Amino acid sequence: EETKSWKKLINISVSGAAGMISNHLLFKLASGEVFGPNQPIALKLLGSERSIQALEGVAMELEDSLFPLLREVSIGINPYEVFQDAEWALLIGAKPRGPGMERAGLLDINGQIFAEQGKALNAVASHNVKVIVVGNPCNTNALICMKNAPNIPAKNFHALTRLDENRAKCQLALKAGVFYDQVSNMTIWGNHSTTQVPDFLNARIKGLPVKEVIKDHKWLEEEFTEKVQKRGGVLIQKWGRSSAASTAVSIVDAIKSLITPTPEGDWFSSGGKNFYGQPSIKIENPLEVIEHLRPITFNPLLF
Ligand code: LMR
Repeated sequence: EETKSWKKLINISVSGAAGMISNHLLFKLASGEVFGPNQPIALKLLGSERSIQALEGVAMELEDSLFPLLREVSIGINPYEVFQDAEWALLIGAKPRGPGMERAGLLDINGQIFAEQGKALNAVASHNVKVIVVGNPCNTNALICMKNAPNIPAKNFHALTRLDENRAKCQLALKAGVFYDQVSNMTIWGNHSTTQVPDFLNARIKGLPVKEVIKDHKWLEEEFTEKVQKRGGVLIQKWGRSSAASTAVSIVDAIKSLITPTPEGDWFSSGGKNFYGQPSIKIENPLEVIEHLRPITFNPLLF
């Protein structure tokens, strides 16, 4: 007889739930690979009037997958209902950019969504809800959301920079000819935009400073940064739409980093309001301290 000690059910609200990123993410959440094999979850999915039919389809596919940990799937278009008692809010829904656009160009259209969703979270979510803002421009949207949710601790708001961290690690690993897991201490400074600074000076490869391993300093100084900055844009040119699968993976990574002790000596990147000028995040007590170092401030002027 298997004796499994189930944890208490957690509510995860996801906006943009009928979109491409969610189509990858939701099945990972439901499978247990994010919150672990003893953690039952309820998925509360937010869509728009336009996407509600598709959202019904998503819910059907989730149900048909018979995930043992997925105890409840609900859908809706009203954030005041869908965010009820949310312990996690993954805010993905927003208009994506097309070829040739900068992410900042989306602010007029998307900013309003995050003001409304911030108000809704403030009113109905768990007071300790962790919010990860993915819709672009994600740093500014996270700021807008946070400002509209004064009852939720500011430190609980994150803008997703993990995708940039992963991209930067990938480039360094390829250049150094090592496996990705050998690259650590990768900080992304600035906004998730073409002005971001992936910090190769503090990053490490096999525990050594990057410059000791990658001798081609010209590549580091002239090509690496731009490659990471423009990765999302190049992907849009290739695909005709923005990244989806790798974004979902990076959301999974971001959540795991917030609920797991950070490996000794390492850190990870996440956009937040506070702690400007410090290297990065380190979690010592999962879900307790998010009282730590954030590499990124919300500064719309930095786009
Ligand atoms: C990305 O970096 O892939 C996303 O932010 C989408 C985009 O607009 O680049």
